[in-house]
Amino acid sequence: MFDTQPSREEILALITPLKDQPGPLLVMLHAIQTQAGYVPASVIPVLADELNLSRAEVQGVVSFYHHFRDRPPARVRIEVCRAESCQALHGDRLAAHVEQRTQLRFGESSADGSVSLHPVYCLGLCSASPALMIDGAVHARVTPERFDELLAQAEAKP
Ligand code: FES
Repeated sequence: MFDTQPSREEILALITPLKDQPGPLLVMLHAIQTQAGYVPASVIPVLADELNLSRAEVQGVVSFYHHFRDRPPARVRIEVCRAESCQALHGDRLAAHVEQRTQLRFGESSADGSVSLHPVYCLGLCSASPALMIDGAVHARVTPERFDELLAQAEAKP
């Protein structure tokens, strides 16, 4: 596991064995995010040098894919389904409750970085709407009261 601010040597040790893979930039970015939890700004010039790309090209790829984060992830990540089936089954009410309870709008993170709130578009649980994910765990038929319980459990985790 990387430090959140890896040295050039640490970055090179991770990415050099991946240089011959097809689409090496994406492979390297995935490896870096797996190690650090996000793509630190310090890796951009190293990747650019190693792959003969401009820094802007590397940064453009990081920005283009929503999967890549440019800052450490929040301790609790909430993803609420905003697609049709969930909306038809009180998803709007749930979404409004989540925003009110977390004091966040969709796409925001709390100032202390502890919680982030994201929209997702169908979790494959349409028959058990409304659905959401907290830290990657999927929950179906979520009421506002159930959300409060789930959030309290997630926040209590060490
Ligand atoms: S629409 Fe929400 S899970 Fe499919």
